Amino acid sequence: MRNSSFIKICALAALVATNGFAIESNQAKIYEAQCVKCHGTHGEGNPAKKGPAVNNKSIGDLQIAIMDLQGNMSINGGGSGDHDKMEHNLKSIEKKGYAISSFEMAQFMYNSFNLKAKKK
Ligand code: HEC
Repeated sequence: MRNSSFIKICALAALVATNGFAIESNQAKIYEAQCVKCHGTHGEGNPAKKGPAVNNKSIGDLQIAIMDLQGNMSINGGGSGDHDKMEHNLKSIEKKGYAISSFEMAQFMYNSFNLKAKKK
């Protein structure tokens, strides 16, 4: 039956869309609570904490960096290159009950901070 498999696909899509009930999953709030101190209110970075600016990266670069920092990097066949990149470990932030979505966080950071995105 074609119809029933279509319904199954819809149900699956709905499930995927509503997954991830964590304590805090609003990326803007997570950024404010957990990232501002090192990356700045406008993504300008904070030299005192060695946090680099994140207002000059593409969405793709941000997402890949976040996945890398989450330890979820397997796109390039595992082992993600230079791990002096692990000075901060997003896993420890996630353990506090923050659900970081690399895609949504990258979108948030890009749309809020990136100067090119603002100009339109
Ligand atoms: C304790 C300070 C600190 C906190 C908190 C912190 N970061 Fe970072 N972040 C850094 C440092 C230092 C680097 C660069 C070196 C490294 O990767 O360890 C970095 C690198 C990054 C990069 C890669 C930037 C690049 O140039 O490639 C991204 C993206 C990023 N952080 C996102 C986040 C997000 C999202 C959060 C909050 C969930 C966060 N960071 C919290 C210090 C911090």
